[in-house]
Order: sequence, then C-alpha cells, then structure tokens
Amino acid sequence: MTTIQVLDTQGVRVLTFNRPEKRNAIDLNMYQQLTEYLIQGDSDNGIGAFLLCGNQDCFTSGNDVAEFLQHPDLGPEHPAVRFLYCLTELKKPLLAAVSGSAVGIGTTLLLHCDLVYADDSARFKMPFVDLSLIPEAGATMLLPRLTGYQKAAELLLLGNSFDARQACEYGLVNQVLPGPELTDFALQQASIIAAKPPQAVQQTKALMRMGKADLQQQMQRELDCFAKQLQSPKAKEMFLKFLQR
Ligand code: COA
Repeated sequence: MTTIQVLDTQGVRVLTFNRPEKRNAIDLNMYQQLTEYLIQGDSDNGIGAFLLCGNQDCFTSGNDVAEFLQHPDLGPEHPAVRFLYCLTELKKPLLAAVSGSAVGIGTTLLLHCDLVYADDSARFKMPFVDLSLIPEAGATMLLPRLTGYQKAAELLLLGNSFDARQACEYGLVNQVLPGPELTDFALQQASIIAAKPPQAVQQTKALMRMGKADLQQQMQRELDCFAKQLQSPKAKEMFLKFLQR
C-alpha cells in the first residue's frame, strides 16, 4: 500500500496521506515521497498547483513519534528536514484540504500553504512543548506574523487544540466547508489557479513569500533546538508514554 497517493488531475498534483492505521503519521519514507513529488511537480509544465489531503478522519497526526526515537539525527539530509526546506522553495501554489486531526507538523506545514480549506471536523494542535520539543517548520516566525504574538504564544505554549472556525479567525484557514464538499472545492480552487498564467502566479507567490532567507535561518535555529530536545530524557519519556498507551 502506498502511503502517499499521487494523482495529477486538472493541472493539479493531489498528494494524499494514506496511512490511516497510524492516523497518517508521517514517517521517513512519506517525507521522502512528498519531497520527490513536490520537486518533480514544481518543474513539470503540466502541473500548476499542489493540493495536500488526508482522509476523512485525519489530515495527519504529525511526525511518526516512533521515528523520533529511532532517527533523532536532524542533519540536512534527514527526510523531514529536506521536506521542510522543500516547502520553502516551492514555486507553485500549495493548497491543503484538512479534515479531522492536524497535529504537530500537520498544522505547522499549513503555514507554508497558500490556501487552506477545512471542514467542520478539523482539529488543529501543536503539542510540541508538551512533548518537551519546540515548534518547527518556521512556526516560531510564521505563526506570530499570522496571528499576532499573543495568540501564537497561546497556541504554541499552551498547545490547546482549536477547531476550523477558530483556525479561520486566526487566518490559518481560508474557508470552512461541509465535509462532503471539502476535497472537491479545494481541488476546484487549485485547478482555477493552475489554469492562470504560470509566470504571474509564481511571481506573485514569490513576492508574497519574500524573506525566505530569514525564514530558513529561523528554521535552522528551530531544528538545532529541536535536535537537542529530541535527545532529552523528558522527550523520550513523552514519546514512550504516547506509544505505550
Ligand atoms: N506517530 C506514530 N503513531 C501514531 C501517531 C504518530 N504521530 N499518531 C497516532 N499514531 C498511532 C497510535 O499509536 C495508534 O497505533 P496502534 O493502533 O498501533 O496503537 C494509532 O495510530 C491510532 O492512534 P489513536 O491515538 O488510537 O487514534 P485516535 O483516533 O484516538 O486519535 C489522534 C488520533 C491524531 C488525535 C492521536 O493519535 C494523536 O493525538 N496523535 C498525535 C501524536 C503527536 O503527538 N503528534 C505530534 C508529534 S510533534
């Protein structure tokens, strides 16, 4: 069974998390596949936009917690690190359709999406601090910019979950849709963008995403802290606690 499904349709590359038995937890192989599909699609003239989806119950439960224990070395070749940098380099718009849980990187990766749609079952959570970790994906820079400092501090330090309506208020989600309409609507929006003049679309995105160097520097700072925290006894205890429930 392929854990990342890929479908090219209407000028859109749809990438779907497909590991439902682990609530779409992203393992190394999935990061690798995502990165390859994104890099390849970014240089494919037949693709004008990307759409990330999960299944009805879960977008993704975030990084595979077991792999935090098995692969704590976060060098530049680590598949999760390559994926995160790939998100910052994407020329073409990235959209997401979120149903069910979006935990950890499942929420922070949305900060790299250009448009995000969610249905009324969506629940977002960034429990990094509770796991004795720190946020990644540039969230310590992108989230305060999006929501204002205090709201970002609330979401990252308290780590409470929030729903689609709140995510919309915070600016993380563009629109909340009824579950059965979510994927079709997101695909339709992506295909509308994909049909527009590609140079104009890509330059508009690049201009809105100016400051990439600062973002990548912040991501590296986060990864340095994250790598140290991964090795801490408290983090290991929290991972085992989750896995041995
Ligand atoms: N990594 C590895 N395994 C995961 C996982 C993750 N991020 N998220 C869920 N799983 C596994 C569970 O261990 C369980 O495996 P098992 O059936 O072999 O015991 C299976 O997926 C189902 O998970 P469960 O928690 O029972 O499902 P649920 O529907 O009750 O809850 C979530 C779903 C997403 C709310 C819950 O799994 C969760 O909170 N996961 C988040 C883990 C996390 O902290 N991620 C962030 C890392 S920074």
